[in-house]
Amino acid sequence: MSKQNPSKADISDFSQIIEKGLSRRRFLQTTAAGSSAAFFAASPIANAMVRPPKAPELLGFSPISSSTQDSVIVPRGYRAESLISWGDAIKPTAAAFSQSNSAVDQEMQFGDNNDGMTFLPLSRNRAVLAVNNENTDYRTLFDDQGENLTAEKVRRSQAAVGVSIVELRKGAQGWEVNVDGRLNRRITAYTEMELTGPAAGSDKVKTHADPTGTQVLGTFNNCANGATPWGTYLTCEENFNGLFGSQNEIEVPEDDARYGINSGNSWFNWHQFDERFDIEKEPNENHRHGWVVEIDPMNPNSKPKKRTALGRFKHENAALTIDKNGRVIIYLGDDERGEHIYKFVSKGKYKAHKPEANRDLLDEGTLYVAKFTAKDGDMHGKGEWLELTFGKNGLTPENGFNSQADVLIFARKAATQVGATTMDRPEWVAVHPDNEQVFCTLTNNKYRGVRDDQEVNPANPREDNIYGHIIRWQPKNGKHDSEQFFWDIYVLAGNPEIYASDDPRSGSDNITPENMFNSPDGIGFDKDGRLWIQTDGNYSNSGDFAGMGNNQMLCGDPNTGEIKRFLTGPTGCEITGLTFSPDYRTMFVGVQHPTGSYSAIDGIPRSTVIKITREDGGVIGA
Ligand code: FEO
Ligand code: CA
Ligand code: CA
Ligand code: CA
Repeated sequence: MSKQNPSKADISDFSQIIEKGLSRRRFLQTTAAGSSAAFFAASPIANAMVRPPKAPELLGFSPISSSTQDSVIVPRGYRAESLISWGDAIKPTAAAFSQSNSAVDQEMQFGDNNDGMTFLPLSRNRAVLAVNNENTDYRTLFDDQGENLTAEKVRRSQAAVGVSIVELRKGAQGWEVNVDGRLNRRITAYTEMELTGPAAGSDKVKTHADPTGTQVLGTFNNCANGATPWGTYLTCEENFNGLFGSQNEIEVPEDDARYGINSGNSWFNWHQFDERFDIEKEPNENHRHGWVVEIDPMNPNSKPKKRTALGRFKHENAALTIDKNGRVIIYLGDDERGEHIYKFVSKGKYKAHKPEANRDLLDEGTLYVAKFTAKDGDMHGKGEWLELTFGKNGLTPENGFNSQADVLIFARKAATQVGATTMDRPEWVAVHPDNEQVFCTLTNNKYRGVRDDQEVNPANPREDNIYGHIIRWQPKNGKHDSEQFFWDIYVLAGNPEIYASDDPRSGSDNITPENMFNSPDGIGFDKDGRLWIQTDGNYSNSGDFAGMGNNQMLCGDPNTGEIKRFLTGPTGCEITGLTFSPDYRTMFVGVQHPTGSYSAIDGIPRSTVIKITREDGGVIGA
């Protein structure tokens, strides 16, 4: 553990520290006079920056410049190499990648558009990498761009998404894919899975094919992820709405429209060949997606379980921690403009030495949604977790909720009912390894301050938030199951090259011309408490985004606020997904949807998981 990390005592003083920050009103007054530097200089982050800690630097690498090159660039002394790309074999008999592969071919290949992932060690030299395959793209999947769609093509598209489970082994070249691995497995949009928890069996999740409301086919739009200490993988279903459509124009119920369910054509037109995606024929099928799914990667025959207790929304990731009292805490973001941040607290307790007792911990517990408050004008303050339990906080029949299943299936409506704070697209959440601080990326929000339902609020302080920010909170008394917390803002992304320091678009003081970026998305901590930040934003390198270059990965010191650029990605990609080998000497990072010639076969660029090592074999980032 780095000496730079604050002690527990320091952290319990977090509320006092943030109370010392200047008010936003003063910020605004100062703005009129000319400097946002004054505000940020007084924030706890900036305070730490002007008093550099004596311990060795947490970020030990030389930062790199922004880039518009069609390649992955890492700092001097580091190596980035491809581990596996879309279409690479994960079974010994797999066909070679080609646009004319069949669905069966794709089932034996690594899936498309890799996103969140987790490294699960089996022994010193053997491991499993579980990787989400968020979606596919007909422009690269088919040579006719999907123009002449067929049932087989839809099936192949369904086979390209979901999750890839791949065994790795460590040899002279470091960690590599073992194509013969017994645990290698593809989970697709038609893999059999179970719906569990309070919403399972509800009338609203019953379909013609499944009158029990418990047996679901498939997972898709698997964005980011989580992992449990009992060895399972959590895959989070995000933009599921885009797969549903209808042959005829129909009226979509308001509760479904809230999730973006649309009549007519969908993004991939699965509904034209697979009736369960036709909302006219199967109006409840969409309620069976938008969940967190628990997978046992160690058992290739296990049935994945959709854990409804965690709520249904456009899940980004599942940041899990075990509280001091043994309860499982999972922080969850809902990636949509003006949606919310959630927290699940398990009823049962985690038992480290009784693995079978942990198997269904995620089926019973309490879901909460966050409300951020501040004194007038402040950009830091207190927060409250509002309980989403049927019968409480107005979640009653008068307001359209008749059961806990209703509350969970329509979690967004429940969050609005209880008065949750609308956020600027909550993406990933990460919990610090040594203290109780929690960070969440708010990627951007063009509706903030523009649409009536998304007024500027203290936690989302900039209208037309094109750059995004990272918010941070600390549970009261360091207890993750507390219903109270304190919060502040770790970084406001911005462009100090084109906006003067008195303009909030210049970003907070820890943003400089050397480290600027936009749209923070993937985040995660390593064991020393470095905060890795990945971007999925505007890579035009022009206008408001001039000087930022391609999407990238940066590394932040949560104590000092310092942020350095570590990696730049190839043309058109986002950087998403991160995990480490247990010695933290190999880092795995995802390059998603490149558009140039990155990892191309026959001119088709391919999403790729890369492995990053140090030439001297040291810890990444140190
Ligand atoms: Fe799949 Fe919110 O990113
Ligand atoms: Ca993505
Ligand atoms: Ca994302
Ligand atoms: Ca994103």
